[in-house]
Amino acid sequence: MPSATVIGLQWGDEGKGKVIDALAREAQLVVRYQGGANAGHTVHADGKKYIFHLVPTGVLWPGVRSVIGPGVVVDAPALVGEIEELATQKVDVMKTLLVSDRAHVVFPYHKALDEAREGGRGGGKIGTTKRGIGPCYSDKSSRIGIRIVDLYDDRRFGELLRRNLDEKNAILKHLYGRAPLEFDPIREQYAEAATRLRSIVGDGPALVQQALAKGERVLFEGAQGAMLDLDHGTYPYVTSSSTLTDGVSAGAGVPPTASGRSLGVLKAYTTRVGEGPFPTEIPGEQGQKLREAGGEYGATTGRPRRTGWLDLVQLHYAVELSGTQALVLTKLDVLAGMGPLKVCVAYECRGKRIDRVPADIQMLEECRPVYEELPGFEGPIDKASFEKFPENAKRYIDYVEKKLGVSMSYISTGPERDAFIRRGAPQWP
Ligand code: IMP
Repeated sequence: MPSATVIGLQWGDEGKGKVIDALAREAQLVVRYQGGANAGHTVHADGKKYIFHLVPTGVLWPGVRSVIGPGVVVDAPALVGEIEELATQKVDVMKTLLVSDRAHVVFPYHKALDEAREGGRGGGKIGTTKRGIGPCYSDKSSRIGIRIVDLYDDRRFGELLRRNLDEKNAILKHLYGRAPLEFDPIREQYAEAATRLRSIVGDGPALVQQALAKGERVLFEGAQGAMLDLDHGTYPYVTSSSTLTDGVSAGAGVPPTASGRSLGVLKAYTTRVGEGPFPTEIPGEQGQKLREAGGEYGATTGRPRRTGWLDLVQLHYAVELSGTQALVLTKLDVLAGMGPLKVCVAYECRGKRIDRVPADIQMLEECRPVYEELPGFEGPIDKASFEKFPENAKRYIDYVEKKLGVSMSYISTGPERDAFIRRGAPQWP
């Protein structure tokens, strides 16, 4: 089956945008299946920079269609804004994008609750993007959410909005001491967004199924990363969706077998935004040096990312969970000149050496990395040929491949589109 799923193997921000754009060149359809406007996928093409939050990456290529699956939570006005912004960059997605009518909608009260919970006293801060993701998925699970399709039935939309707003306003006011939100402006804003989106709302899964049946190349685009997965990540410091390949089936509305080849993207080092344990975090000046070298600031929130060495314990866990068949390495060039390169091969925790990520978050917080050291390399990294890489850069790649037992099939060598090396047989993906 000519389909593939691209997911992040770390804590997000692995450079998936660049990878999806590169692979989409030879695809016919790109499908987002989870998350929402918390994602920020950056693509540098023809001297311009594009950041995708809800619109699937890959739409920059002529002839590539895209779907926002039912598993995505859609901030409708934000989507309209993103589509308009792309139009100013001469990218018209109104003819190529389909938004699933079953997708749930993010409302201002979700964002207000997200913000209130994050700002609340008594700890518990997750460091979310404050895009209302958690509260929207909670409503979906509680069966009180509002879906895109509901926006087109005035009466039903009004009733659902009233019920939700009454409940949320009570919580905002009494629990968090926040000002209540008004019904009318929200209703108007979302009705207007729904009108703008009307021509591109429909049955997303049907389109994906048709494309698969025709043997088209379908690319499923993961957002965030393995360690932010709701079930398998560093709970509660996770996002509220299934970020692994298993999310494809429910989130895109296709059978489990349809997700195709599993591609895992990893950065040559590790970063994380938000709170939560991070065993290989590099404190102080060296961490800052890596942050600056890699431009590690959030595409969605602008927050500085925490930086650290590569963590094979975490990566092994992610590879296993997502059945990774091919690795895609990004940002190797950033490690040039960083001196000897540390790679974490196990954790030391409460007097024991472990090689699995523990479920107990306090225990993970106490884990100390056991490092192996590899010689560093100086730049530059050749943009087009692996053979021309510095010997120690090749060694680093070989080492990671062997340790994870999966081939490094692609290497991204810079932000530009063509800085992308495919190793092995020239077949998609
Ligand atoms: P939420 O998804 O906004 O609820 O945030 C939950 C956690 O996931 C926080 O640690 C965020 O920083 C993180 N997160 C959410 N989206 C992304 C992303 O696209 N890249 C990296 N981290 C993310």
